[in-house]
This record gives sequence, C-alpha cells and structure tokens, in this order.
Amino acid sequence: MKRDMKRYNRVARFYDMVESLMELTNFRRWRRTLFNFIEKEGENLLVLEIGAGTGKNLPFYPDFSFVAVDISEKMLKRAVEKNKRYGKRVDFVIGDAEKLPFRDEAFDVVFSTFVFCSVDNPVNGLKEAYRVLKKGGKAYFLEHMLPENRVIQPFFHLLNPLTRLFGPEINRRTDENIKKAGFRILKQYFLLGSVFRLIVADKAFDSGDKTFHQLMKHSEPSDGSESRRFDLQHLLPLRLTVF
Ligand SMILES: C[S@@+](CC[C@H](N)C(=O)[O-])C[C@H]1O[C@@H](n2cnc3c(N)ncnc32)[C@H](O)[C@@H]1O
Repeated sequence: MKRDMKRYNRVARFYDMVESLMELTNFRRWRRTLFNFIEKEGENLLVLEIGAGTGKNLPFYPDFSFVAVDISEKMLKRAVEKNKRYGKRVDFVIGDAEKLPFRDEAFDVVFSTFVFCSVDNPVNGLKEAYRVLKKGGKAYFLEHMLPENRVIQPFFHLLNPLTRLFGPEINRRTDENIKKAGFRILKQYFLLGSVFRLIVADKAFDSGDKTFHQLMKHSEPSDGSESRRFDLQHLLPLRLTVF
C-alpha cells in the first residue's frame, strides 16, 4: 500500500475539521478563483480533478463533466457522500496520480488543489497529468510550496518532517516540478507571499503537430457532434474502482 494512501485514509475523518480555519479565511476564496478560470475554458468540457480528497471543490464545479480521482478510498468516500448534496456530474475513481488509469489526451482540463505536496513522486504525477491532458489544454494547480524568501525557507525545511507525518511536504518546488513534467507555465499568482500559488499552465501545441493544423482549420469537434458525451468506460481502459 502506498504511503499516501495510508496517511490520508488515516486522516480522512478529521480532514475537513482540521482545515476549516484556512478554508474559511483563504482556501474557499482561492478555489472560487480557480473555478472562475476553468469555467471560461469552454462549454461542455471534460475535466479531471487529481487528488479530489473529501470533495471540497464540489460546490464550485461548474456544469461540466468531471472525473475525480484520489488514492485514498476513505477520502473519496466522503466526496461521494458530499456529492449527494451537490448533485454534480462526477465519476469518482480510486487511482494513483502517478499512474492515472486514463488514456492519453482524454481531458480538456486537468486541475489539482493542494495535492502535489503529497504525491510521493510529484514529477511522475505531473507527467501523468500532462499525458492525459489534450494538446492545447489548460492545467490549473492551486498548491503550496517552498516560498521564495530565503530567510524563511529554513523554517519550511525544518518543519517538513513533522508535516509529512500527517500529509504534505511543505518544502517542494512545485512550480519547477510542473515545468519538469513538460507543462508551460502561463501565469503564476502568488498567494500569502509565495507560499501558496495558483499556477495556470498548458500543454503547448507543437507547431509541427498535425493536430495543431487540423484544429486551426476546424474548431468544431472532429466527430461533428454538437454536444459531446463522455463515456467513462472509454476513458478507463484499466481495471479500477469507480463509485
Ligand atoms: C491535502 S489533500 C487535498 C484534497 C483536496 N484536493 C482539497 O483541496 O481539499 C491531498 C489529497 O491528495 C491525495 N493524494 C495523495 N497522493 C496521491 C496520489 N499518488 N494519487 C492520487 N491522490 C493522491 C490524498 O489522498 C488527498 O486526498
């Protein structure tokens, strides 16, 4: 069993309560901002949330189709329960960010909130996010990381072993990891100094790419359908648990 699965299964019961103060003071506002961006990405999109946890983003999901993946069954079960209240169009999937059970370029948008501080190998996870995102698609990351201020950096290194006991690493350079995975960072919003950041990235077209030229010619979906439907089975070639 992966370490993250164990950790988050352990804290699932208390997770919302422990985070409630930050949620009220800042997180909720930042989540709303992230979804304001995502909402403007188009219509009828298929969006992947990586590390959906207890479903704190559900209230903000716009009217798109979502797939919410998390490694911790106990966290995700809470999200499933929450969604009975919100009734959003979501397929909940237990899966590992480092080995996403989806085909290449399956999603129009991918995003995560406070996840790549926890994934064991964040670059592997981000590479997977890159793989399943369509060319030209956007990725949004609301994440905390090592601040840029060199005076306070040592505190983050010092505290890191403690925070890792119950979840995240607080001294990761997620902005660098995002680039290492292949993404192009378009914008980076600094929140509370530079500890938290909302990063907008994309999977750039390669100008020699056939798809690029096709899309330039035809902006409509290639199958000609007006409204695109998403068949989860088509997306999920591997065996996994879907709630
Ligand atoms: C700090 S919580 C954030 C949850 C949620 N995104 C939020 O904003 O409240 C981190 C989440 O990432 C999940 N996670 C950690 N490693 C993962 C992995 N390798 N694959 C999928 N999910 C993972 C954890 O189970 C947990 O639910």
